[in-house]
Amino acid sequence: MLTSGGDSPGMNAAIRAVVRTGIYYGFEVHGIMRGYQGLIEDDISKLDSRSVANIIQRGGTVLKTARCKEFFDYEGRKQGYQNLKKRGINGLVIIGGDGSFRGAVQFSQEFNIPCVGIAGTIDKDIYGTDFTIGFDTAVNTAVEAIDKIRDTMDAHDRIFVIEVMGRDAGYIALHSGIATGAENILIPERATNIDSIVESLRETEKRKKLVNLIIVAEGEKFGGAYEVQRAISEKMPDAEIRVCILGHIQRGGAPSCLDRLIASRMGYHAVECFLEERYNVFVGILNNKMHYIPLENAVKTKGKINEEWLKIVKILAS
Ligand code: F6P
Repeated sequence: MLTSGGDSPGMNAAIRAVVRTGIYYGFEVHGIMRGYQGLIEDDISKLDSRSVANIIQRGGTVLKTARCKEFFDYEGRKQGYQNLKKRGINGLVIIGGDGSFRGAVQFSQEFNIPCVGIAGTIDKDIYGTDFTIGFDTAVNTAVEAIDKIRDTMDAHDRIFVIEVMGRDAGYIALHSGIATGAENILIPERATNIDSIVESLRETEKRKKLVNLIIVAEGEKFGGAYEVQRAISEKMPDAEIRVCILGHIQRGGAPSCLDRLIASRMGYHAVECFLEERYNVFVGILNNKMHYIPLENAVKTKGKINEEWLKIVKILAS
C-alpha cells in the first residue's frame, strides 16, 4: 500500500483500515514510503496491527507521500515491479487522486499487478464517487477561516477575494463559498467574467451592501485571486479590496468524522476487492453505497459541476 500525490486528512484512517482488514483476512500488508518513489527505491516494510495504532485521528500520512517524476518513465516502473516481485508482493493499494490512479493504470497494464485505488484528495476531482478522503475536512477548514475573515471584512466594509485550493476543480470553492454566503465563486470549470462581478458589486453597493466575499479556486483560469483583485480595482478604484490565500492550511489537521468514516469504509472494501478478485478499480461511494469504478474510467472522465449550485449562489447572495 502507498499514499501518493497531495496528502489529505483521513489517509491515515484508510491506511489503518487496510492493514487491519488485510490481517483479518490473512493477508500480509506492506507499507511503501513516499508513494511511487519508495516503490522504486524499495523503501518498503511489513505493517502489523500495532504499527497503525493511534493514527486514525491524525492528518497527513504516516506512509508519507510524493509526486514521483521517475514513475513516468518505463524504467522507473520496471524497477518498482522488480522490488515488488523480489518481496513476493502481488497486489497494490493506491491511496491518492487521479494522477496517482493514472500511474496505477499504466503499472498494472505493463506488469500485470492487480491494483485497487482508494480516492484520497482534498480536491474531490475524481469521477464516480460522492466523496474523496480529505475533502470534508478541507472545506470545513476553509469555512472556519473564511468565517474569521468575514468578521474583519464586515468591520471594515471591505471586499475580500479569498483563494482556496483546487487545481483543476472548483468543489472546495463551491462548497465553502455557499457555506459562507459568498457573493461570487470563481472556478476552473467556468470562465470568469470580471464585468459581471463588477456589475454585481456596483449593484450591491447601491443597496448599501458593502461587504462582499469572492471565493476563487486556485485553478480558476483568469489568473487567481491577485489577478481578480487587480482587474476589479482597475474598474472600481475606490473599492477597498483585500486578498487572502488560504493555501496548505486546507490540507492539514485532524480529519473530520466523515473523512475518518469514509476512509475506514473504503480501506475495508479495498481489501475485499482482493478477496473478490475485483482488480484495477477504485473504491468510491455513491448514494452511500460502495462502488467499484475501473481506474481507467476514473482517469478518463471528469466530474461535472452542478450548474444549479451556481444559480443558488446568485439567489442567496442577493
Ligand atoms: O492535493 C491537491 C492539491 O492540494 C491541490 O488543490 C493543489 O493545487 C495542489 O495539491 C498543491 O500541491 P503541492 O502541495 O504539491 O504544491
